[in-house]
Amino acid sequence: MYKGSLTTIEDLSNGQVEDILDLAQEIDGNRDAFHGLASRHLMASLFLEPSTRTRGSFEAAMKRLGGDTVTVADPKSSSMEKGESLADTIRVWSGYSDLIVLRHPWEGAARLAAQYSDVPVINAGDGSHEHPTQTLLDLYTLRKELGTLTGRKIVLCGDLLNGRTIHSLIYALLRFSADIIYAPGEGLELPDHVLHKIEAEYNRPLQRVRHPGLEALYGGDTDESGAEVDAIYMTPSQPHSLTLIDSIQMEIEIDKEESFAFYVTRKQVEREGTAGDGPGKRYPRMDAKVLKETGFSKAVIMHPLPRVDELSPAIDSDPRSKYFEQARNGVPVRMALIALMLGLKPWKHGPEGGGQARGELPVPKTRGIVWLNQNCISRIEPLNATAEFTFFDRPGERFVCCYCERETFPAFYAYPYGEVYHPIEERPSRPMDPSRGTFFFDEASARASNFRPSKKMADGVQGNV
Ligand code: CP
Repeated sequence: MYKGSLTTIEDLSNGQVEDILDLAQEIDGNRDAFHGLASRHLMASLFLEPSTRTRGSFEAAMKRLGGDTVTVADPKSSSMEKGESLADTIRVWSGYSDLIVLRHPWEGAARLAAQYSDVPVINAGDGSHEHPTQTLLDLYTLRKELGTLTGRKIVLCGDLLNGRTIHSLIYALLRFSADIIYAPGEGLELPDHVLHKIEAEYNRPLQRVRHPGLEALYGGDTDESGAEVDAIYMTPSQPHSLTLIDSIQMEIEIDKEESFAFYVTRKQVEREGTAGDGPGKRYPRMDAKVLKETGFSKAVIMHPLPRVDELSPAIDSDPRSKYFEQARNGVPVRMALIALMLGLKPWKHGPEGGGQARGELPVPKTRGIVWLNQNCISRIEPLNATAEFTFFDRPGERFVCCYCERETFPAFYAYPYGEVYHPIEERPSRPMDPSRGTFFFDEASARASNFRPSKKMADGVQGNV
């Protein structure tokens, strides 16, 4: 885990995830036996964005363990309103408590908090980035309902662009070898940086497929595009380019008797770039008609909640609807997580336990990049969060921010011992490697740097600086 904290689902190895789910199951069967485990422990519950389930179930979990909580649920009541930084706020709270649970609108806020805290920090949702504890209770629910994740199909519906629950869940499902089928709202497809991560780090091909049974989700829209959804299959390790997506056509089948899950999500209207909003935009919705038309007898319907109009209350009593049970599962799962993170129960697995945990990996530093993501903590608190970028050479040469995990494709390079910068296309043929000390710039930072444009650029032969 990154400094003993849970900031992304990738801070946990597969073995550690299984430890949490196993302990949650034990707690679920005999909750009272765990009362008193966390007595004399205090949890700071800092919710600087609205929440019902995450805050409620974390606080219920701590109290069910016999511990106590202190809550900040109104950002206006915190001295951040007077301009105090998140880093200072966390330093102070880590002196008052044994564990900090943080929900925050800025991407990478939990990682910054983990840097400045002396006690473990749990990410309860940071902007559009991640929501790892929601993923833990989703995995718990899926395992309970489907028996296993391996080879099970999970249909992710709705706002895949902004849904932080979706991003965390995808990485976990890939690690536990589930098949993912995407059914996004129009204009709300997975963001490029998530697609690229799936490609580069999980080596899973994304294929455009037709599924004649799923168009019912879009209101029976039977035109060509209405029947198309994207899918990732388990096939590992084949060279694959995202540019092939549009040229691949295949069909997938979900058997009427197959156990699988629909994971429905609402449109995240509070986030920037909700491009799918607007008249005529297709958005997947689950209701009694869809259930009847598709006829899947062993489908499990899940939703992280809150719902708006994408999930009809008319199917609440259908035995396939599991979303309120899913929300209820948040308590035993968070009880297990708290007990393990506070060392009140032993981990059976370490970071290497059966799957990757990336939290401790060193991040290669590179310089010279001005970061454009306005919602990244490194942009908002640059003095406390110095953006560090990990270099990837596929698909495409790019740098990924260690806080928000969004990517950038620098346009210029320069050597530290030189005086000029050059367009990236003119770099020597050897791979672009930040560990050589090379500087990389986008156009704004190139202009702001102490380097000057190469003579060719200044003469207007190349580039536009
Ligand atoms: N699922 C979830 O995160 O719900 P809340 O926003 O109510 O916490």
